[in-house]
Amino acid sequence: MKIFLNILGLTFIAVFSLGAADQVLESYWQSPSAAVISPQHDWSALEQNMRPEACAQCHESQFNDWRESLHAKAYSPGLVGQFAGMGHGEGNDCLRCHAPLKAQLYDSEASMLGALQSLRGNLKGVNEQADLDSLEVSLPLRHTGVSCAVCHVRDGQRFGPPRKGSVIEGQIQGDAHGGFVASKHFEKSNFCAECHQFPKEYAINGKPLENTVQEWEQSRFAAEGKQCQSCHMPNRQHQFKGIHDKEFTKAGLDFTAELRQGVPVLALSSTRIGHAFPTYVTPKVLVSAKAYSPEHKILKTWQWEIVREVYYADGWQEKRDTRLLPGEQRLFVASGLPAFTANVLYAVDVIPDAFYINLYQSLLEDEMQPDAKALIQRALSTARERSYTLFQQSLRLPM
Ligand code: HEC
Ligand code: HEC
Ligand code: HEC
Ligand code: HEC
Ligand code: HEC
Repeated sequence: MKIFLNILGLTFIAVFSLGAADQVLESYWQSPSAAVISPQHDWSALEQNMRPEACAQCHESQFNDWRESLHAKAYSPGLVGQFAGMGHGEGNDCLRCHAPLKAQLYDSEASMLGALQSLRGNLKGVNEQADLDSLEVSLPLRHTGVSCAVCHVRDGQRFGPPRKGSVIEGQIQGDAHGGFVASKHFEKSNFCAECHQFPKEYAINGKPLENTVQEWEQSRFAAEGKQCQSCHMPNRQHQFKGIHDKEFTKAGLDFTAELRQGVPVLALSSTRIGHAFPTYVTPKVLVSAKAYSPEHKILKTWQWEIVREVYYADGWQEKRDTRLLPGEQRLFVASGLPAFTANVLYAVDVIPDAFYINLYQSLLEDEMQPDAKALIQRALSTARERSYTLFQQSLRLPM
């Protein structure tokens, strides 16, 4: 497991030096650690405060949405629980996507080990009780994960999309924190690339482990001008829903279960997903059919898996890729139906954290540092609780 983690770490360092094609965007993401404010500003303590709870005082709706999102939970037990055997440099390589502000990074081995204990003692991300008029807070900033300042602040300066209904870019006057810099980059898919796309150089069987932006570029959505934000931030909302949300995932797909010439068929179509379903190697989708007798006994079971499965052996290897591409329809046919089948039940189950469940289980098989072990146990139970049934339908057969 060590090898696996080390390799991931190395891969990620390189990702950051390559960056997105766009120059402006590249420099923006080269310095997410530079959000810390320069002392010359004469702003109030509230305006200088980089905590999301501070932004919330004036940007309440964004805060309320974001705090429920996985971005707010990115400094997670599953992440930090893996740090016990690493150096703090390696830990910081992971934080480049999970909590990249300078004030969020570890400055020593000891600070990283202390952080394991600190997260174990308090799993909360944001702190309602924080005293915002002083810059002192009880919870470390890294607990807030991919927080507001990660995406919006460089050197104290706020950056954001042009005002709603406007196309004007550049410095905009405003009533707080010296206004903001408006940039169209916030409305484009490439804005998300730094953490959601690896470069081509890291391809496994032609596809990097994270290939979301590329998958999107090849879909009809790119041609139609629909960006990541169009689906994941509708009306600029900050919920960032994804495969962990049942209703959101369901809305991306069409399901038709019917008898075609007496044979049960489930047609599953990816109609409103801007990348492969699912885009990552970590979720797994199980499609099953069960034939029942009139007495409700199972006569036969069919099972199919929608997944991109990779494993580590002398470099990353791809075992199979059965994901649905944007626009693709797949038929799941319950062929060879037993005699006297009364009905066939189709189900589609989603295990959003399938890869991590396996990883956590294998980590727990070995001796572990106690704080790390407690965090990984916690991560395992959370990961298991996240599985859900996406679709179920029974087809009655003429007897
Ligand atoms: C004291 C109130 C206040 C605080 C605290 C505050 N803001 Fe603002 N923010 C404003 C106001 C007022 C505007 C200007 C809105 C306008 O004129 O369109 C603004 C504008 C913005 C914009 C630009 C919105 C756009 O249309 O693109 C962003 C992004 C932003 N703030 C982020 C933040 C972040 C991140 C924090 C915390 C680190 C923060 N703000 C803290 C009041 C505040
Ligand atoms: C290039 C950006 C990037 C880097 C660097 C990165 N991750 Fe992640 N990580 C992600 C994204 C995006 C997700 C969510 C996608 C998914 O896997 O479902 C994620 C999800 C996870 C999860 C599951 C969700 C959770 O938080 O419990 C764990 C655990 C994790 N990463 C651990 C690590 C570790 C350990 C490292 C360093 C070896 C690392 N990550 C480095 C982008 C990154
Ligand atoms: C992962 C990156 C990310 C994070 C984290 C994030 N934002 Fe945003 N935010 C964006 C993007 C991208 C847009 C523009 C969306 C669009 O144009 O469709 C945006 C838009 C905004 C706007 C303009 C909204 C409008 O209606 O004009 C404000 C204000 C803002 N964000 C504040 C915040 C605050 C406050 C937080 C934390 C509670 C936060 N953001 C967290 C990426 C982020
Ligand atoms: C046309 C709508 C649409 C667009 C455009 C889109 N997505 Fe998604 N996305 C979805 C839906 C629906 C899901 C849930 C089903 C799934 O996981 O594929 C999802 C899931 C995800 C997930 C969850 C992890 C996983 O393995 O699926 C991530 C991360 C994600 N999208 C990121 C992005 C990024 C980054 C972009 C832009 C490059 C993007 N999405 C563009 C609709 C969209
Ligand atoms: C600084 C890095 C970073 C940036 C920039 C970023 N993300 Fe993420 N994103 C993450 C990480 C890390 C996670 C996984 C959090 C976790 O579960 O631990 C994640 C999770 C998600 C998920 C949840 C997927 C699921 O599994 O349900 C969606 C959707 C998503 N991001 C969309 C976006 C979009 C859209 C943008 C651009 C507007 C964006 N992200 C920008 C790092 C980032």
